[in-house]
Amino acid sequence: MSVDNKILLICDQEEIRNRIIQETLQSNDNVEINSSKEVKKEIGRIAPDVVIFVAPNNGSEVELIQYINNESQGFRTPVILFVTEEENFLQLRDVIRAGASDFFVFPDEFHQFNERFEKIQQVVKNQKESVEETAATSGKALKRGRGQVISFYSGKGGVGRTLLSSTFAQTLKFESTAEVLLIDLNLQFGGVETFLGIESNRSLADLKPVINELNENHIRNVSEKEPLSKLELLLSPQDAEAAESILDEHVTQLIRSCRRIFDFVIIDLPTEMNAKTYAVLEESDLIYYVMKLDTPSIRVYQHVDALFDRLGMDTTDRIQIVINEKERNNELNAKDLQEFIPLPVATEIRRDMKGVQGAVNKGVPLRQKVRERKIPLVAKDVRKWVSSKLK
Ligand SMILES: Nc1ncnc2c1ncn2[C@@H]1O[C@H](COP(=O)(O)OP(=O)(O)OP(=O)(O)O)[C@@H](O)[C@H]1O
Ligand SMILES: [Mg+2]
Repeated sequence: MSVDNKILLICDQEEIRNRIIQETLQSNDNVEINSSKEVKKEIGRIAPDVVIFVAPNNGSEVELIQYINNESQGFRTPVILFVTEEENFLQLRDVIRAGASDFFVFPDEFHQFNERFEKIQQVVKNQKESVEETAATSGKALKRGRGQVISFYSGKGGVGRTLLSSTFAQTLKFESTAEVLLIDLNLQFGGVETFLGIESNRSLADLKPVINELNENHIRNVSEKEPLSKLELLLSPQDAEAAESILDEHVTQLIRSCRRIFDFVIIDLPTEMNAKTYAVLEESDLIYYVMKLDTPSIRVYQHVDALFDRLGMDTTDRIQIVINEKERNNELNAKDLQEFIPLPVATEIRRDMKGVQGAVNKGVPLRQKVRERKIPLVAKDVRKWVSSKLK
């Protein structure tokens, strides 16, 4: 399979341009060259994998790097190598913050630049190949660009949103090659860290200073990795003040940026219907409404449904019921439920006090690795559910 990288060289100075073309790019066919003035117009069409950006004289480098990253919607964010002729710490710090991967001071670091370029070419090529191959053979690797946003909601507390969203996200990661991010939007109290056994003082509140120009580096710098599955997590600040400082529009920006980078963005929501919850539900491709098979859950759902109506939120074809804590002696069964709630039931998860509490007490997730003989019932049910989604 031919997966040549597309390279974009942005350079206003003839001398450096010629040197890079002759010494770095001589064996590459797929190269486009732009001046810094042309980039904005051309970047969408070119959709490069690797950008070599030589500092322009007009100080527009930070803005252009941000622009390139923002415009990468629909394709993978390119790797940007920044080249400059003068060593200026503040400039270099700013371009890295804006999203450049690396910088080189010419002519002293020309050699290192060439070596790095070759390495990056290989890494990007391998990534593209593996994504295309898995997509062709298993269909499990989804196309980059517009990941699916799935939120877990319910108007009633304590029904299992946090347990199920974290297990669902971790299982997706175990069972596929997809890039998965779990976001905890219970900004005051958090929760997902409990079920995944994570301790961290990083949180999504750390993204605030860069929220208007969010790129992949920013998100990966603030996210935690669940070490067993490599699931990425944006944790809650667990702090009322920090929670308040996150504005409603930040939430929308965050989700839009995340869906460009990840194949699945899973969001654990609080019960409270405020502007942030509303924004997430509006952005979601799929809403899993979690409930138990009992009358209080049905009653609360009916209130929520009426509220959606009043708020003018259209959830047609986007909302499904997830039945949790299923037991033999439940008041109702899934069929009875349909009489009250005419929505598809995505799955039914059994109650397993022993399995869940055992894991929580040990401070570990319900699942430890891909192939495991004995896993708690809840993890088993979630695995079945996730596998059927990936088919
Ligand atoms: N299928 C299940 N089997 C056993 N225990 C469960 C199951 N689902 C949830 N629980 C337990 O129920 C409690 C509530 O779950 P969880 O915190 O996930 O709910 P929530 O809807 O996120 O609640 P909150 O409103 O507090 O955010 C937890 O102690 C969890 O371990
Ligand atoms: Mg919760």
